[in-house]
Amino acid sequence: MRTQVAIIGAGPSGLLLSQILHNAGIDSVVLERKSLDYVLGRIRAGVLEQGLVDMLDAAGVGERMHGEGFVHDGTELCFDGTRHRIDFKALTGKTVMVYGQTEVTRDLVDARRAADAQLVYEAEGVELHDFDTTKPWVTYRKDGVEHRIDCDFIAGCDGYHGVSRASAPQDSLKTFERVYPFGWLGILSETPPVSDELIYARHERGFALCSMRSAMLSRYYVQVPLDDKVEAWSDARFWDELRRRIDDKAADTIVTGPSIEKTIAPLRSFVAEPMKFGRMFLVGDAAHIVPPTGAKGLNLAASDVHYLSSALIAHYGSGEGELIERYSENALRRIWKAERFSWWMTNLMHTFPEASCFDARMQVAELDYVTSSRAGAAALAENYVGLPY
Ligand code: FAD
Ligand code: DHB
Repeated sequence: MRTQVAIIGAGPSGLLLSQILHNAGIDSVVLERKSLDYVLGRIRAGVLEQGLVDMLDAAGVGERMHGEGFVHDGTELCFDGTRHRIDFKALTGKTVMVYGQTEVTRDLVDARRAADAQLVYEAEGVELHDFDTTKPWVTYRKDGVEHRIDCDFIAGCDGYHGVSRASAPQDSLKTFERVYPFGWLGILSETPPVSDELIYARHERGFALCSMRSAMLSRYYVQVPLDDKVEAWSDARFWDELRRRIDDKAADTIVTGPSIEKTIAPLRSFVAEPMKFGRMFLVGDAAHIVPPTGAKGLNLAASDVHYLSSALIAHYGSGEGELIERYSENALRRIWKAERFSWWMTNLMHTFPEASCFDARMQVAELDYVTSSRAGAAALAENYVGLPY
């Protein structure tokens, strides 16, 4: 089989890239290791920057998002038992969209299928070959049969544990990493959200976040030690702990119910440089991870897709190769700024095991500054709604 771009991974970055290329008349094949049900069962991000919303619209997959998603003009930061609002719209003129990654993925799959896209699920043993030449190729197994795809380029959209970064020449790969000494325990419950906007709470007992997916679906998180097990957290224990970390009004009015999903995710900052190896590109989580505080993971994957799709469209259109050559550099400039914001917000909001009383006072002083100074609030708002591409 032959295609122009072989895409590894059918997460949001692989699917969005495939859809944008298709709209520009560029052919691709997407290879995904898991089944569609498995991919749609993963509960992940929930906040979309304006830039991603615009990309989904331009790709022709924004309709359901506008009907079912919620536009948020601001968010609330809670510390010392009091909530303070950051008004994104007043400070930046921009807003964010609350719409789950699962729904974005579903919309993209529907669009790709409607266009008869080559979307191969349960592709086993994917291998990348000769991407340091002008004739790369990819092999995989499906239902016990070996397949080969010849292509012009390979896009590694296969997440942190994928095969693409692992296939890059390791001596030309530099990685940067910080692992945080805690995780987030998240639950999904069929209850109305406690507030119209998200609440990010700093508390001596640890961070908490109140988020949502719809009018009857809430997403809540609490910071937990890295070695905690989900089994140790009954629903009752979760709700008690959440209530202790948020303000009294929220704690008194929150509607609780059985969890329909409960997982612990570790927090990590990670960047791999460069993101281009000959004719193979790393995209999204394959190249970088942010801690979830500030909701940047999915949005960063989308900005990589922006840079790569623009480069490929220029290559196939006018034959101009400059954007392809500069893909890594252009993507990384924005990635490092989002890494900085996610790291900053993580440090600001969480309780660190080794933190002193001084460190705790510094967090509160910084939160006080951010919520009382227009400049401080604007810096948070500008990053949260997303820096320009
Ligand atoms: P992924 O979504 O990881 O997609 C990669 C795809 O490649 C997967 O479907 C995988 O099965 C496939 N794949 C892997 N290896 C192979 C292979 N060898 N062959 C073929 N296919 C392969 N971000 C936020 O902003 N907010 C959040 O609340 C949030 N929560 C998260 C919770 C968890 C548990 C995780 C893991 C991430 C979370 N993120 C969150 C981050 C966000 O979900 C990711 O940044 C986003 O999914 C990145 O998209 P992607 O397409 O680059 O990678
Ligand atoms: C969600 C996750 C985040 O990391 C965040 O900062 C905001 C919202 C969520 O899952 O809804």
